[in-house]
Amino acid sequence: MVKKKKKSQNLKAELKINNKTYSLPIYDSTAGEKVLDISKLHQESNYFTYDPGFSSTASCESKITFIDGNKGILKYRGYDVAELATKSDFIEVTNLLIYGDLPNKAQLNKYRKLIARHTLLHDQIVNFFQGFRRDAHPMAMMVGVMGALSSFYQDSLDINDPHQRQEATRRIIAKAATIGAMAYKYSIGQAFVSPKNNLNYAENFLHMCFSHSAEKYKISPVLAKAMDVIFILHADHEQNASTSTVRLAGSSGANPFACIAAGVASLWGPAHGGANQAALEMLEEIGDTKNIKKYISKAKDKEDKFKLMGFGHRVYKNYDPRAKILKQVCSKVLKHVGIKNDPILKLAIELEKIALKDNYFKEKKLYPNVDFYSGIILRAIGFPPEMFTVIFAIARTAGWTAQWTEMTEDPIQKIGRPRQLYTGKVKLKYGQNRSTKNTR
Ligand code: ACO
Repeated sequence: MVKKKKKSQNLKAELKINNKTYSLPIYDSTAGEKVLDISKLHQESNYFTYDPGFSSTASCESKITFIDGNKGILKYRGYDVAELATKSDFIEVTNLLIYGDLPNKAQLNKYRKLIARHTLLHDQIVNFFQGFRRDAHPMAMMVGVMGALSSFYQDSLDINDPHQRQEATRRIIAKAATIGAMAYKYSIGQAFVSPKNNLNYAENFLHMCFSHSAEKYKISPVLAKAMDVIFILHADHEQNASTSTVRLAGSSGANPFACIAAGVASLWGPAHGGANQAALEMLEEIGDTKNIKKYISKAKDKEDKFKLMGFGHRVYKNYDPRAKILKQVCSKVLKHVGIKNDPILKLAIELEKIALKDNYFKEKKLYPNVDFYSGIILRAIGFPPEMFTVIFAIARTAGWTAQWTEMTEDPIQKIGRPRQLYTGKVKLKYGQNRSTKNTR
């Protein structure tokens, strides 16, 4: 049965169009903005609402992740992300995101075993990899192989079966790290390394990426903890572009592997997950603290396409809480690997300092986001920039699967179908207005 949303007791909203008044119900949230329900507006008024980029639109009801962008707060299922980053680990966080509360010891042990059981990939996926060019971006392989899982795991495609849904989410989370590591190994021309199920998720990922037949990789607890924190901090982030893509793809009833592949594709863009690679490349391009002023001016110039990568956020109008944690992790990791005075970290800290004092960035409330420091950490661990977004995607499988599960189980869920403001031509006779341009 569809549970009715709680209407706000004291608040009422009315919209007046040409002297006709439409009432819009207001729903209470447990934290953050309340919402106006416009779902019947078109039916009653014959008007659509217009909100490109969805700046004012809540696309769904969710109990998973809460962000207060003005205060710089991020919570998973009510727990502050900073606390989870110190007291929990990635696998426990995936369980929390999917099931809604922290697991007890027995539940967690069972869940760890279930995830570990799915770390291997079907042997034929090796052949699948061999079809890729060696110089392909690892995200290209990630999108392709994630979608291809639906051809290998056909016993978990029925979205109406709760057992199959759970099996699919566990497979996606467990296999994402193996796929990411294989994409890396393939791109550097090394043999794939099998997962080791006695290692935790972060350790196993480092092992699959950096071990090879000639030398066993010694896993450093400092680097494994940093990897785990990066996975936790990227695990979910409410209805961002890739998560909304997963929900929209899933709203048609598509299978979970295909939906997650759609999320990987959306994450790849430089305005979203691709920003961690772009941020490090930008720091390398700036090269020296003496060039910062020039690049700050470029970022402020409307005629210049350059933006400070790793800066600004649609929701955070304050310091991104994930960036705060990663700034500290960054110092620990660099100290551990023996980089005493990393010029790139020095440059990043100086750039942040100058930008935060600059009126343009202050007025537009542009602060460092999660991508500003993560690249420096990942580079120190040993990853090339092309792998940064892959690592983000591995972590985000937690949020995507949790959000996909919530959507699939939501009784009011229906296919997502936005409308438009049509401004094209109408009523042409065939052949009228034929193009005269030479190019198309
Ligand atoms: N450098 C310079 N100016 C910026 C930056 C930036 N990094 N970010 C925003 N602005 C400016 C915009 O030009 C705009 O100026 P205007 O009001 O004069 O037109 C204003 O600030 C508002 O920015 P919008 O682009 O409208 O903000 P939006 O919410 O659409 O975009 C986004 C947010 C895409 C993250 C943007 O800040 C950006 O491109 N940042 C750099 C890329 C980046 O770091 N992305 C990672 C985001 S976090 C994540 O996905 C994990």
